Amino acid sequence: MSENADGRRWWHGAVIYQLYVRSWRDSNDDGYGDLRGIIERLDYLSWLGVDAVWLSPTMPSPDDDWGYDVSDYTGVHPELGALADLDELIEQAGQRGMRVLLDLVPNHTSSAHPWFADAASGREAEHRRYYLWADPGPGGGRPNNWLDFTGRPAWQWHDSGQYYLHNFLPGQPDLNWWEPAVHQEFARVLEFWFERGVAGFRIDVANGLYKDAELRDNPPLDSDNPLEGVFGLRFVYNSNRPETHGVYRDWRKIAESYSPERLLLGETWVPDAQRLAAYYGDNDELQLGFNFPFALADLDPGRLAEVVEQTLAALPPGAGPVWMGSNHDLGRFPSRWCGGDERKIRLALLVLATLPGTSVLYYGDEIGMTDVDVPPALRRDHATLDLEGGADRDRARTPMPWDGSPGGGFTGPGVTPWLPMADPPVSTVADQRDKPESTLSLCRRLLALRRAELGRGLADFENLAVTEGVWAYRTGPLVVAANFTDQPADMPAEAGEVLLTTSAEQAPPSPGVLRPWEGVVTRPGR
Ligand code: GLC
Repeated sequence: MSENADGRRWWHGAVIYQLYVRSWRDSNDDGYGDLRGIIERLDYLSWLGVDAVWLSPTMPSPDDDWGYDVSDYTGVHPELGALADLDELIEQAGQRGMRVLLDLVPNHTSSAHPWFADAASGREAEHRRYYLWADPGPGGGRPNNWLDFTGRPAWQWHDSGQYYLHNFLPGQPDLNWWEPAVHQEFARVLEFWFERGVAGFRIDVANGLYKDAELRDNPPLDSDNPLEGVFGLRFVYNSNRPETHGVYRDWRKIAESYSPERLLLGETWVPDAQRLAAYYGDNDELQLGFNFPFALADLDPGRLAEVVEQTLAALPPGAGPVWMGSNHDLGRFPSRWCGGDERKIRLALLVLATLPGTSVLYYGDEIGMTDVDVPPALRRDHATLDLEGGADRDRARTPMPWDGSPGGGFTGPGVTPWLPMADPPVSTVADQRDKPESTLSLCRRLLALRRAELGRGLADFENLAVTEGVWAYRTGPLVVAANFTDQPADMPAEAGEVLLTTSAEQAPPSPGVLRPWEGVVTRPGR
């Protein structure tokens, strides 16, 4: 049966590896990771057992926001390589059974994009309508109270006599999705990359595209949930507008016109399962939307079980969820969830590897890499550099520690990497690769087990025992039991033969007992 006829899709059951290109492998010793570096290490990803990679932004950019300020949607950033390198990467990954997703940034461009350069040339310019320009408000000030993601006013005065909107940095003007030509431009961008074999896109700020036509003020925020709003204002009129859904219905048709179907995976920054599910539409919009309530939950069995159940209940029939714990903005789950405790890191990897749907690992998750404390003088993230006590995003963007050689296997000896490497004695890929008890080996076993047992489909899922300390669930033919406490716990009755444990201890466990912070995958008896 064809992929489309039986409702299966290539991302069901898949593991996607988010690869921050600048920090993964530097092939030309300039201190920045690049596309050829990825090509060199594709065998590692295939050995690990991932199904696809999502590359952080690869398009030309002045790098105010490290590629999230695009100046050419159909090119490759010269510091990362050339179009031919990307073609080769797609080809070589394909030979190993892996697909390549790119990062697409449709909410805004760089102010260096030719569209904006033209738009800024005058009020009659051809591309003026591609962006959101507004006259001063009634009192002569800014058009409304919207703030950008640093907490500063989101309106930048321009000497062409109007303000323009930037929900991110002033160098990232927001596109005007009320303008039909913007839709046509992006349809062409999608087709350009899909024709080249790109398997899909992670869509940046996916819930942000349309803004309120009347530019109404955002209301005050009465919650401390960052998914509801920030800096005292709720995200009401500057994101999550109903018109955005039409964009994804159009893009879904484009994605479905290719074989295999191309994937639209949205950065859906919304606070609950209902609002997340809205971006899946009637299974005719995004095929996947990132689950931030899950990633931002504590490592708490009750809360995680609840988010998983609510998500599965809310999604339309035929659609699958996607789970992740780390990314380039939030930081790394080995720090956030686990405080660096290896037992907890291994347990979290087990959860990520056994939930139904699609799971995304961030580079370094597989070795339990924790955040790196980057001294302010070495930080490179302009957006957070001068925010007081601000979220430091560089901590999760430092180079992959491949081995203990000078340059760490990331770059050449004597080269200064763009962000500092984690200080030794960090555990590297080389340290862990051949050790059966290492986190990397565990991760690889988990992915192999996932592929063999959960297969290619949307595994049925059921919460079994959820107590303050233990989370047990049925996933496909397996039962997972995980002890989230410092004390031994009873194995739930539904568990069966243990196929895999997260424990690195050599001594056998007592029968029927989970060690502190141990998780097991079991096959229940019939
Ligand atoms: C997304 C990206 C983040 C970027 C922002 C603006 O949230 O993940 O890194 O700064 O969008 O493009």
